[in-house]
Amino acid sequence: MLSTESAKTITATLPAVRGALGEITALFYEKLFTARPELLRDLFNRGNQANGSQRQALAGSIAAFAGHLVAHPASRPDAMLARIAHKHASLGVRADQYPIVREHLFAAIAEVLGDAVTDEVARAWDEVYWLMAHALIAVEKRLTAEAGVQGGGGWRPYRVAGRVQETEEVATFLLRPADGAPVPPSRPGQYVSVQVQLPDGARQIRQYSLSGQLDGGLQISVKRVAAGHRAGEAYEDPAGEVSSHLHAHVHGGEILHVSPPFGEVVLSEDGEGPLLFASAGIGCTPVIGMLSHLAAAGSRRRIITAHADRSPATHPFRTDLRRLTDKLSDATAALWYEEELGGGDGKGAVTVRAGLMDLTQLAIPAGTTAYLCGPVPFMKAAIAQLLASGLPAERIHYEVFGPDLGL
Ligand SMILES: Cc1cc2nc3c(=O)[nH]c(=O)nc-3n(C[C@H](O)[C@H](O)[C@H](O)COP(=O)(O)OP(=O)(O)OC[C@H]3O[C@@H](n4cnc5c(N)ncnc54)[C@H](O)[C@@H]3O)c2cc1C
Ligand code: HEM
Repeated sequence: MLSTESAKTITATLPAVRGALGEITALFYEKLFTARPELLRDLFNRGNQANGSQRQALAGSIAAFAGHLVAHPASRPDAMLARIAHKHASLGVRADQYPIVREHLFAAIAEVLGDAVTDEVARAWDEVYWLMAHALIAVEKRLTAEAGVQGGGGWRPYRVAGRVQETEEVATFLLRPADGAPVPPSRPGQYVSVQVQLPDGARQIRQYSLSGQLDGGLQISVKRVAAGHRAGEAYEDPAGEVSSHLHAHVHGGEILHVSPPFGEVVLSEDGEGPLLFASAGIGCTPVIGMLSHLAAAGSRRRIITAHADRSPATHPFRTDLRRLTDKLSDATAALWYEEELGGGDGKGAVTVRAGLMDLTQLAIPAGTTAYLCGPVPFMKAAIAQLLASGLPAERIHYEVFGPDLGL
């Protein structure tokens, strides 16, 4: 809990810190990566740094944590802490790296806010930083211990035992432990971090959801991020580094270094209530992982899967979705295709519609728990539709394939 003195100082300075977050984060990363270039090369996602998507996440979460502490002194924002701690645990972030981040973050705050950062202000924000850091360190320690990690990160070598081209853009990689030890346990919906060595020597890390149940192994499915123009922009964004590398150079037999499974957006196995899975594009990977688990367990729950894609040809796991829907005793699937409907997809328990997904067209039973995954605009629309259909917010869970900047 924050001391009363610091709570007053934080309340007084929070608007200034929030107002300067963009400047503070830019300067923080510049200082951090100048002092410790290996962190950008081998730990942080340099694609996110280049496109700006991670920039606000770290400092923004500290401001959000501070706001929570002053508004609700008796509680902690556990959901936010869990998301960050799972990500850190999968990346192998260590407790001894927290003072490094603190040093460069506080140097950036002092430089941007200048004389406003008196000793009293610095002390109050230091208290917030360490309250958050210690909370994260404690959760990260528990998560890594549960995953059987002995310290120094949980990276293990896996041999690529096979590759399946799901669509032109998406490939599934089947991974088996190369050290002969058993596969670590996972929960449906979780992801692993995968490290690859790129041609310039950098060791970049990305997360991939487990997209199925492979006996004695793990299965991930990766969409190749091609170079292309964002709407309204003249310049071309470069191709994604890790996904392009995996697609171009990993065909079977190679070794990849992979973390144990982590991730807090997991299928709740309590109760027998109805489930709704809504995904778009490559967001189907955790959904297919969860459906495979439910089908293997012989679940009798009412299950509705909704998926949106450009066309049947771009829809990964289209035939697996039908197979799993048919195998489950009370499941239906609703598909939305934007460009082309294709023939023969909409039979039996599977329906096909044209255009963008609209969940208000589905009869969603009372007591449904929903899991969403896809691009942020898709999830914003899906959440609004589910709320409009009467689903309470606490029953809506979502996974973001990038830094969670809040939906
Ligand atoms: C929990 C979680 C689960 C995930 N699960 C999956 C999954 O199951 N399957 C899957 O395919 N993905 C998944 N992802 C996404 C995955 O981790 C990667 O983000 C994705 O593969 C892209 O990585 P990349 O290295 O290919 O692209 P990056 O190199 O990281 O590039 C990302 C974007 O940034 C842009 N960019 C890069 N450099 C610049 C620059 N200089 N200027 C402007 N823009 C730039 C690129 O054009 C691209 O659009 C998941 C992510 C998370 C967080
Ligand atoms: C109190 C201190 C810290 C806070 C509040 C914090 C917060 C965050 C947040 C909010 C994210 C994004 C999570 C998401 O995906 O939604 C993140 C990711 C990350 N953090 Fe931290 N973090 C802290 C300390 C550290 C430390 C000490 C390191 C290691 C040097 C670190 C390394 C990373 C990395 C590498 C990522 C992923 C970046 C990416 O994929 O772009 N963090 N952190």
